[in-house]
Amino acid sequence: MLGMISYLRDPMGCMAPMAQKYGDPFSFPGNPPLVCVGDPAGIRAIYTAEPGTFAPLSSDFAVFLGRTSLLLLGDEEHRRTRRLMTPPFHGARMRAYGESMCRLAEAHTVDWKPDQKVSVYEVAQQISLDVILQAVFGVSEPERMKELATLLLDLFNGISPLIALFPSMRREFGGIGPFASFKRRQRLLYEHLDALVAAAREDGSREDILSMLVQARYEDGQPMTEEELRDQLLLLVVAGHETTAASIAWAFYALHRPENAAVLARLRDELDALGPEPGPEKLDKQPYLDAVCQETLRRFPLAPAPAPRKLLRPMELLGYSLPVGTGVGVAIGVTHFREDLYPEPMRFLPERFLERKFTPFEFVPFGGGARRCLGAAMASYEMRLVLATVLRRYRLRLASLRPDKGKVRAANAAPAHGVRMIVEERLA
Ligand code: HEM
Repeated sequence: MLGMISYLRDPMGCMAPMAQKYGDPFSFPGNPPLVCVGDPAGIRAIYTAEPGTFAPLSSDFAVFLGRTSLLLLGDEEHRRTRRLMTPPFHGARMRAYGESMCRLAEAHTVDWKPDQKVSVYEVAQQISLDVILQAVFGVSEPERMKELATLLLDLFNGISPLIALFPSMRREFGGIGPFASFKRRQRLLYEHLDALVAAAREDGSREDILSMLVQARYEDGQPMTEEELRDQLLLLVVAGHETTAASIAWAFYALHRPENAAVLARLRDELDALGPEPGPEKLDKQPYLDAVCQETLRRFPLAPAPAPRKLLRPMELLGYSLPVGTGVGVAIGVTHFREDLYPEPMRFLPERFLERKFTPFEFVPFGGGARRCLGAAMASYEMRLVLATVLRRYRLRLASLRPDKGKVRAANAAPAHGVRMIVEERLA
């Protein structure tokens, strides 16, 4: 309970003080308690553990995500499904979606006028959902995108804390109550997802991620079932929408804090030097833009210990013997604020990513090992393109200079006040 309260009060900053007080690893109270580790040596031990060492912690969410959701699968099934899902998310494949990412960033900001107040977080949410609808679902017709976006958001917003936190409340009670209402929305959405899958099966010429998943085959030559495809589609929205939107919004927030004026100026110089209409490929090759996005992911970790795992066999972790059943989490909120890795860790200093290469156990915004974020390349690409597209069109300033510690939304540390900004100038 105490852990939950400190997480709700300060989602990004709650972990580092615990490690300072209790050492690393430390136990994070919860149900079940988690052993959290921020030390890169401990993280290496977790991410390189033998297959069969861990199970996902929260099979409890099958009712929301679907029982075949990649996130909930045990090692063997996870490996089998992940092998099928990886190629469409390969970095090189992402190039195909660059134009659409830039176009969507333009379309959602084209009406901004000088002196207008905008919530960059809300706009980033619309962009990131539309990117998923186009790149993953293969839907580009505006009315259809709107309809699906509404169904998806209705479903997520319909998961009340009562049913999320208390499994005993997950009953339909004759069609009344929050769970019955959730199930109705879920059934409606499933009908639409099944129709999308059927359409992708019929048209073999499409290039979206769903079409690639429909064509993919397991090692035994079998395709994914309708249930698997639907569960994975839903997971990609759940895992990819709020996370990317919040990270884009944090980047705007950090860049426009007065103490980071030199960072914004350097980024603008880099982007201005590209001339008119550089296109996604050129935008994507800018080193300072990349460093800004990486520093955003370091300084604003969305969850203190995302996707914890449960031990299926005993493990030695930094000198501690952990028994079977222990929950283990990588404490990003500790690792990313270690003075020895990131001097002056509270400052926003993209230069650190130009000066030093961090190992996959020191910089862990996307987790690691066999369950590393499947959408890491897509999210990073989208962050760079959306940031560059909007900054090249507008000068903005924060509407309030009140520091933002973040607020828990859909299990992520999202900006608490929506990153409200004033449009200062529309650039030629
Ligand atoms: C900035 C945005 C994002 C962040 C910070 C992020 C972060 C993460 C993290 C920390 C994990 C857990 C990894 C682990 O257990 O070690 C994860 C898993 C996952 N993410 Fe992301 N993510 C982002 C965007 C996306 C996008 C855009 C997609 C796809 C459209 C996506 C799809 C997934 C999937 C499918 C998993 C589960 C992987 C598995 O269990 O094999 N994520 N993400």
